[in-house]
Amino acid sequence: MSPAFAALALLAASLSGCAFAKTPKPRCVDSIAHIPASANNFNVSSGALPPGNPDVLVSEAYRIQLRFCEPSVAVKKRTDTLQVLLHGIGYNEDYWDVSFQPETYSYARFAAAQGYATLNMARLGYGKSDHPDPLSIVQSPYEVAIIESIIKAARAGHVPGATRHRGHKFNTIVAVGHSYGSRLLNGIIATQPTLIDAVILSGHTHDPLDASLLLAEPARDNDPARFGQLPPGYITTLNATTRAQAFYGPAETFDPSALASDEAHKDVGSLGETLTLDFPVTSAPEFTGDVLTVNGALDILACSDATCSNIEKEAMFYPKARSAEAAVIPAAGHALTYHLSAPKFYGTIQAWLNRHGY
Ligand SMILES: *[C@@H]1O[C@H](CO)[C@@H](O)[C@H](O)[C@H]1NC(C)=O
Ligand SMILES: *[C@@H]1O[C@H](CO)[C@@H](O)[C@H](O)[C@H]1NC(C)=O
Repeated sequence: MSPAFAALALLAASLSGCAFAKTPKPRCVDSIAHIPASANNFNVSSGALPPGNPDVLVSEAYRIQLRFCEPSVAVKKRTDTLQVLLHGIGYNEDYWDVSFQPETYSYARFAAAQGYATLNMARLGYGKSDHPDPLSIVQSPYEVAIIESIIKAARAGHVPGATRHRGHKFNTIVAVGHSYGSRLLNGIIATQPTLIDAVILSGHTHDPLDASLLLAEPARDNDPARFGQLPPGYITTLNATTRAQAFYGPAETFDPSALASDEAHKDVGSLGETLTLDFPVTSAPEFTGDVLTVNGALDILACSDATCSNIEKEAMFYPKARSAEAAVIPAAGHALTYHLSAPKFYGTIQAWLNRHGY
């Protein structure tokens, strides 16, 4: 065998080794925890966002559905690092832990194999979490306060729901958001700049968002079996076709079975969220950690054109950040984790984490 051919054969062997390597399933704990939080929400009883600052105090302890996963591979320097995963509107814990072919599509599994613990969740109003009034309660200011409360608990050694990790203080927080989840994280690093060390904002820019692109209707009309008990202020996308139009790239960018699984797991959003979408999206002048903004090139919600050139100006919103970088994933729309390019998205995040010492 010629040396060149031997090298090729070796390359082929390592490539096929890659293709068949399965990411192991990490050990995870599902739980529901009461999370105390206080914030001023907006008075949106008129159906619109009033001018001025939010001034209606909400102080409660709602039940939040959490999924804590341990690392599946031990990496010493990541022992005290926790990745907090936040989904967007219309999704739940399935977004960052996709149940369709999870060895390929689940980011939580990917992160576990890199040595990270993760805390994934269904935010307030989603999944098995409480579903309080969708207008007055499920709004950006109060949701920011819930996430802050969860991160503070993790830093103090009380990861909600993770009893085996009682007393384990996670002193490095990497927060990963998608879409509305990124908006909430934007609000946290703007107002509590020392709570998070590194933030990954996906499906996100500071440009105005056209929520009408979601094409939503009351969730209880859309799927009475799943959402029939919810008030009409909880909304969801119409069907797989309109969901793909809003959240996906063209047909060749995803497996139709991934879309079908997404549609089957789809969740709601609240009118309070859509009215307060822009409230947390400000500059973060005092944040000194690391920021990665990462979008699918074909994201019609976050991107202004087919190369997502508007992502370039994101760095200016983080003037004191240790680093502020942007990445664009080809052949992906808004729902990055359900596209064929999901592994590339995860690899991009991991390369960035490696480069910045996390
Ligand atoms: C909200 O504003 C309406 C008037 O627009 C007022 O009647 C109501 O009391 C206010 N609610 C709260 C909780 O402040
Ligand atoms: C989805 O909803 C749109 C808008 O109402 C409709 O035109 C389309 O036929 C629906 N598609 C499916 C597969 O139900």
